[in-house]
Amino acid sequence: MIQKWHKKKSQLPLIAIIIFIFILLTIFLNEKRFQQIHIKDFDDKKTFSFKSTDSVNAAVLDRFTTCNSTIKYKGQKAGWDLRLPKSDKQREQKDSCDLFSGRWVFDNTSYPLYNESDCPYMSDQLACHKHGRPDLDYQYWRWQPHGCNLNRWNATEIWNKLRGKRLMLVGDSLNRGQWISMLCLLESVIPAEKKSITPNAHLTIFRAEEYNATIEFQWAPLLVESNSDDPVNHRLDERIMRPDSVLRHSSEWEHADILIFNSYLWWRQGPVKLLWSKEKNGVCEEADSLEAMELAMDAWANWIGSNVDPVKKKVFFVTMSPTHLWSREWEEGTEGNCYNEKTPIEDEKYWGSGSDLPTMGMVDKVLNKLKSQVSVINITQLSEYRKDGHPSIYRKFWDTRTEEQLANPASYSDCIHWCLPGVPDVWNELLFHFL
Ligand SMILES: *[C@@H]1O[C@H](CO)[C@@H](O)[C@H](O)[C@H]1NC(C)=O
Ligand SMILES: *[C@@H]1O[C@H](CO)[C@@H](O)[C@H](O)[C@H]1NC(C)=O
Ligand SMILES: *[C@@H]1O[C@H](CO)[C@@H](O)[C@H](O)[C@H]1NC(C)=O
Ligand SMILES: *[C@@H]1O[C@H](CO)[C@@H](O)[C@H](O)[C@H]1NC(C)=O
Ligand SMILES: *[C@@H]1O[C@H](CO)[C@@H](O)[C@H](O)[C@H]1NC(C)=O
Ligand SMILES: *[C@@H]1O[C@H](CO)[C@@H](O)[C@H](O)[C@H]1NC(C)=O
Repeated sequence: MIQKWHKKKSQLPLIAIIIFIFILLTIFLNEKRFQQIHIKDFDDKKTFSFKSTDSVNAAVLDRFTTCNSTIKYKGQKAGWDLRLPKSDKQREQKDSCDLFSGRWVFDNTSYPLYNESDCPYMSDQLACHKHGRPDLDYQYWRWQPHGCNLNRWNATEIWNKLRGKRLMLVGDSLNRGQWISMLCLLESVIPAEKKSITPNAHLTIFRAEEYNATIEFQWAPLLVESNSDDPVNHRLDERIMRPDSVLRHSSEWEHADILIFNSYLWWRQGPVKLLWSKEKNGVCEEADSLEAMELAMDAWANWIGSNVDPVKKKVFFVTMSPTHLWSREWEEGTEGNCYNEKTPIEDEKYWGSGSDLPTMGMVDKVLNKLKSQVSVINITQLSEYRKDGHPSIYRKFWDTRTEEQLANPASYSDCIHWCLPGVPDVWNELLFHFL
């Protein structure tokens, strides 16, 4: 019934690709409210500290930046001279069980872990019940790894681990969803007068006074500096990035004790323009999304490799969040998407075409080099099963719907983000398992 991506790829009609890009654009553009580098010498023992005078002196990109002209990407890498601090020990493995391989079990006694309407930090993009979703089963699924169990959720225990620490999630709206999930999972045990949150901005900070701890979210959808770094206003026709500068973001995230990164969907919107720091005439190079993402991942990896002492900082990378844009991928002959889906996929081998295998391969390669410094939270396969977990039409949309759209709800369904309570709660349970 279900075909794998590589089999499907060649048959994928152009129209589907256009629709996919259109839906992606619609959803990203709707977000009004919150909205390289050659790695060599990994075994060298000397520590290299990040310094790129070019990127320090180059003008900061913003949403008004334009390219004066564009040429094809010439394959240039940033030539990072990366030397990792020698790590004596690999990150310890808590147990030999693979927590990311398992199945979803219906469990309406212990789930959801919090109540949608009780969480003061809930986002209107993710509050599906509030926005009219009639079926609530999506809230009742527990992730059951094969061969072991996740610890029972206990917010007080987590706060004890976070005492005196700054935890920061850095990335795009999927990561922001995980951040909101984390706040909702943890906030209820903190009395109202002992918690606070700063207004939405580039860096949003939740503070829990009695634990002297913060849980923060930093908007950095491409990880490197880009013209989309405004957390609210990134409605742009073209993406421009500095492939050799993470400085704008790293100057914030370097202060965190626990860092959780993601990056994926913003790279799936077509070609990206590269503006190197040393480029003075505004000549951009246009790279395809995989090339551009690899440059950004390398820049990020260079920062991690040069700055993270695994004894002092814990770093996690959350793998790509799957989308459910074509129901024919899990049910042949149908023409819909995630709209009206009420149950998870049971085929354990299911893999949708939204999770690009070449990208996964590239990410694997980069993360492998950072093994002692970065733990992977591999959410892709387990989230693939959750075609029922997306908001579809049950969220706040920032534009009004046309009559044509209303007549065909699937046409404007959000099959990218996740309802809360829901799938990202489990990402956090897995994350805290490794803390
Ligand atoms: C849990 O689900 C079962 C089966 O659908 C149902 O009979 C039961 O009433 C539910 N319990 C709660 C607490 O919702
Ligand atoms: C969630 O909270 C609301 C209001 O406090 C309450 O009416 C509702 O029954 C609660 N739902 C669950 C599942 O606890
Ligand atoms: C959660 O952990 C705290 C501290 O370890 C403990 O006192 C409490 O009993 C636990 N709560 C539950 C429901 O297990
Ligand atoms: C609170 O945590 C910060 C680190 O995030 C630390 O520098 C500071 O000393 C702590 N303050 C108290 C009162 O423990
Ligand atoms: C484009 O060219 C103008 C005039 O030469 C220059 O002032 C501007 O900085 C260039 N744009 C970029 C992005 O470098
Ligand atoms: C994540 O899991 C998938 C299989 O579910 C695997 O193909 C991929 O290599 C893993 N990625 C990482 C970074 O561990």
